[in-house]
Amino acid sequence: MSILDIIKKKRDGGKLTHEEIAFFVAGATKGTIPDYQLSALLMAIYLNGMDIEETSILTLEMAESGDMLDFSDIGTVLDKHSTGGVGDKTTIVVGPILAALGVRTAKMSGRGLGHTGGTVDKLESIPGFRSDLSEEEFKEVVRTVGFSDIGQTKNLAPADKVLYALRDVTGTVENYSLIASSIMSKKLAAGADGIVLDVKCGSGAFMKDYPSAEKLAKVMVDIGNNAGRKTSAFITDMNEPLGRFVGNCLEIIECVEALKGRGEERFIKLVYAIAGEMLNLTGKKDDGMIEKVINDGSALMKFREFIRAHGGDDSFIDDYNRLGKIVIKEEVKFNRAGYLSRCDTEKVGLACMKLGGGREKLSDTIDHSVGIEIKKKLGDFVETDETAFIIYGNDEAKVSEAEELLKGAYEISDTPTPKPDVILGRIIL
Ligand code: URA
Repeated sequence: MSILDIIKKKRDGGKLTHEEIAFFVAGATKGTIPDYQLSALLMAIYLNGMDIEETSILTLEMAESGDMLDFSDIGTVLDKHSTGGVGDKTTIVVGPILAALGVRTAKMSGRGLGHTGGTVDKLESIPGFRSDLSEEEFKEVVRTVGFSDIGQTKNLAPADKVLYALRDVTGTVENYSLIASSIMSKKLAAGADGIVLDVKCGSGAFMKDYPSAEKLAKVMVDIGNNAGRKTSAFITDMNEPLGRFVGNCLEIIECVEALKGRGEERFIKLVYAIAGEMLNLTGKKDDGMIEKVINDGSALMKFREFIRAHGGDDSFIDDYNRLGKIVIKEEVKFNRAGYLSRCDTEKVGLACMKLGGGREKLSDTIDHSVGIEIKKKLGDFVETDETAFIIYGNDEAKVSEAEELLKGAYEISDTPTPKPDVILGRIIL
């Protein structure tokens, strides 16, 4: 088989066979096809697309390019995935809730990059917390606690690592088949029986508008179900940050507050929806059980168990001062009165990154303690000089940079603006 023939076939709009897709994925994994030919093929796929059959084959081949985790000796295990947003800490609350309800979640999460945060970074703000458990340790925590979340292991879908790095530098990231196969290959390799996807949509998300988010969600749901994993998806709003805080330590504290029954309204609505759908995948119904395990403290107890099983110190749950130190607290105020009509959510995420709370490139180190408090929500009426954001930082110059970004984050209108719902749509089985 010749890679040149495969490139030409896709360039001319042809449909690739299973053998052809397997050939190029194996070549990418083993390094036997040079980057320039892989890049040319990626561009041909980007321009001419792949149908759902090609996309499903590509996903399976990428998943099988490395380790495939197997939880069959433990029982049913679920996973959830968010396509990335600002202030999205849903997993950290959903996992303990489900564990308290006897439903196991095994998740491998990414790190934050650019304006989006990463669950692994958030969890690593907990003193001692290890997100680099071995596969055996990971399985043991899933078995005994019911919830574990670790960084992606080295040999998880290695073909995706090669192809994603090339896409990043060849302008071929934004293609439905390539995004969906990249995300779903890692989900399939991570071994869960059922997956709930949270496809973010809006000014802080990869997908800026509803039709694009819906299309991506449908492709991923099809891939998951074609691969024999029960998969459903929500399309959720990312036109403003989720919850009250953006920043690693601050979001962990917000999760503890949510597990203590004091979560922000939109955030909690999303937590209930995702946890409820995960229960559905196991054939159970919510019936008030989610609220019960929050109110009786058993979900918070599971969170403590999870932290301890990962080597972390859970004492901050009783004294938030034990989590990160902040030297600068700066308020950003509204310069006019009116209704908050639009938020440039990406700017809020970038402001957190500038403070040191995120990365421009994956090798950057981050300051877990910094972040931003969101004082108002879209649709709120605000007065001149009312506080829009509180910046928590450790470096004057970085705080000034964040302040500049945040000053331009909101648009204010004289006419009332409706509050956007957090759940915009769902693709269910
Ligand atoms: N996240 C991924 O893992 N892959 C993509 O292609 C886009 C987002």
